[in-house]
Amino acid sequence: MILVTGGAGFIGSNFILNWLAHRDEPVLNVDKLTYAGNAATLRGVEHDSRYVFAQVDICDREAIDGLIQKHQPRAILHFAAESHVDRSIRGPGEFVQTNVVGTFTMLEAATAWYRTLSGGQREAFRFLHVSTDEVYGSLEPNDPAFNERTPYAPSSPYSASKAASDHLVRAWHHTYGLPTLTTNCSNNYGPYQFPEKLIPLTITNALGGKALPVYGDGRNVRDWLYVEDHCEAIDVVLDRGVPGETYNIGGCNELANIDVVKTICRFLDELKPTSSGVPYAQQIQFVTDRPGHDRRYAIDARRIESELGWRPAQTFETGLHKTVQWYLDNTEWVEGVTSGEYRCWIETHYV
Ligand code: NAD
Ligand code: DAU
Repeated sequence: MILVTGGAGFIGSNFILNWLAHRDEPVLNVDKLTYAGNAATLRGVEHDSRYVFAQVDICDREAIDGLIQKHQPRAILHFAAESHVDRSIRGPGEFVQTNVVGTFTMLEAATAWYRTLSGGQREAFRFLHVSTDEVYGSLEPNDPAFNERTPYAPSSPYSASKAASDHLVRAWHHTYGLPTLTTNCSNNYGPYQFPEKLIPLTITNALGGKALPVYGDGRNVRDWLYVEDHCEAIDVVLDRGVPGETYNIGGCNELANIDVVKTICRFLDELKPTSSGVPYAQQIQFVTDRPGHDRRYAIDARRIESELGWRPAQTFETGLHKTVQWYLDNTEWVEGVTSGEYRCWIETHYV
């Protein structure tokens, strides 16, 4: 079986649902269920004999060792992290703990397990580390996109903690020979994303008749990738990636935040017009900027395309349209995750 950490979060749960829909191999999901982890997302596979869930902190070495011994994974896919930049600015401690200490703990546990393997099992074992394009820092408007040789220059507590985890992964490969794979991906969007991130926040606020907060001048640029395309890319890297290597994954969809928000408003005007007929874009509000806000990210994904044959299937228009429709069809899921903790975050952050 494969062991997935953070499988109750946005990307991890999409990955597991996708995996179980297309493969027979069982999955062990190891997740602490922080505010960002939602067991409800995986309700559809809860009783599937190929799915096992363990509510465990990745920093708990003893518990991780026990799970590995019991389930004997042929690969570990490490998604678990604290992932929201704004939260890392307000409280960086958890980011260092989970992203750095947690990754260190997973690497130690994986290495101990790898050392017990022999023959074909040893040959096949992989530790796949899911990381971000934010480790490369911020680009000027005319800079070339990030490739796998771009020097690291993280600028938020979140990206610094992810960069640290990438360095640990590289070191565990180089020093101990652990067969690692690292992926650095751009901004994801799609079903089951917690509504603290730009796209689901905009959709849910719009439908709730609330302000649509755009930081600063709204001209910060992100490279958007539909989450299923990211999951496909991870599958491909797991199957065909070369141990010790890193692969950049991106959507070839560079857009300014204000244009993303306006596109969401346009889709909502078409799919669920306001009762007053006033366009959703009237709810847009420019608010105080994020401290140290990175201006632009862009991914050069030529390596994964030429070496492993992956390219995104969705354009931003097709992926976003599906996403808006998904949030309209799944209001129950949204209500379930926008609990007291969520409301508390929104009230504190957007005062
Ligand atoms: P998320 O915040 O939605 O989910 C994170 C999951 O990890 C949650 O289920 C949470 O409960 C779990 N978790 C957190 N701390 C844990 C701990 N100590 N022990 C066990 N489980 C813990 O995150 P996401 O958006 O799904 O991101 C997944 C991974 O992909 C992260 O490593 C992130 O850095 C990376 N990434 C995200 C994006 C994006 O746009 N969301 C882009 C590139 C890379
Ligand atoms: O680039 C990959 C990264 O993308 C991942 O590693 C992170 O885990 C993920 O959270 C995401 O980081 P961002 O900071 O880019 O995502 P977020 O959705 O928080 O913000 C996207 C852009 O929108 C960013 O420029 C900030 C802006 N923004 C965000 C929020 C929440 C707003 O203008 N208003 C908002 O209310």
